[in-house]
Amino acid sequence: MFQGSYFRQVGNKLNPGLPDLLKDFSPDKEAAVLDIGAGNLRDAQYCLQYGFKKIVAVDNEPQCLQFAKPGITYCIQPIQQYSIPADQYSMVLGCNALFFLSPEDLMALFPRIFQGLKKNGIFFFNLLGEEDGWVKFNAHPSGTRVYSSNQELIGRLFSGFRMEFQTEDLGYDENGFCRHVISFVLSKP
Ligand SMILES: C[S@@+](CC[C@H](N)C(=O)[O-])C[C@H]1O[C@@H](n2cnc3c(N)ncnc32)[C@H](O)[C@@H]1O
Repeated sequence: MFQGSYFRQVGNKLNPGLPDLLKDFSPDKEAAVLDIGAGNLRDAQYCLQYGFKKIVAVDNEPQCLQFAKPGITYCIQPIQQYSIPADQYSMVLGCNALFFLSPEDLMALFPRIFQGLKKNGIFFFNLLGEEDGWVKFNAHPSGTRVYSSNQELIGRLFSGFRMEFQTEDLGYDENGFCRHVISFVLSKP
């Protein structure tokens, strides 16, 4: 579902943490970036300006094509079906998008991301924790189903990756729903 009001709300503001991530890990700009659930391309565009040679954005919503920009390859396809080439990416982004995938789809996706990353490549994304009200009350503003991830699932998803960083945020949104967001940076050893 097209998330127009979300895109209006976030505009071109970056996902917090992306500039620091680039500073701290210096992913190889000669390699490619993959942005999963790229939406209005706010992060992909920053990566383009930052100097990455190739940026691939994937989103399953055809209306997102209105955000397409020169220099960014925009593929309209569910990430479950997108063929991730091996050993290509120095950075994969999955911000505010992976919680739309079921645990089974995540379990199938993470090994594909792992093989798509180059050595030392990084993967920056977030998931919803078990307290999250969008999940508990099926209340995502778009009406789309979202999923939480428990520790057991997270342990299985991260197999093979090195955990670099994790932050957990608990708060309330404007509709009074608890928001439980866990952000991660993983790397490929
Ligand atoms: C909340 S937006 C986040 C956009 C952007 N990553 C950001 O942080 O602003 C989530 C995006 O994920 C996309 N999405 C949801 N399920 C997807 C899937 N299975 N494959 C690809 N994209 C998906 C939606 O269409 C939407 O554009």
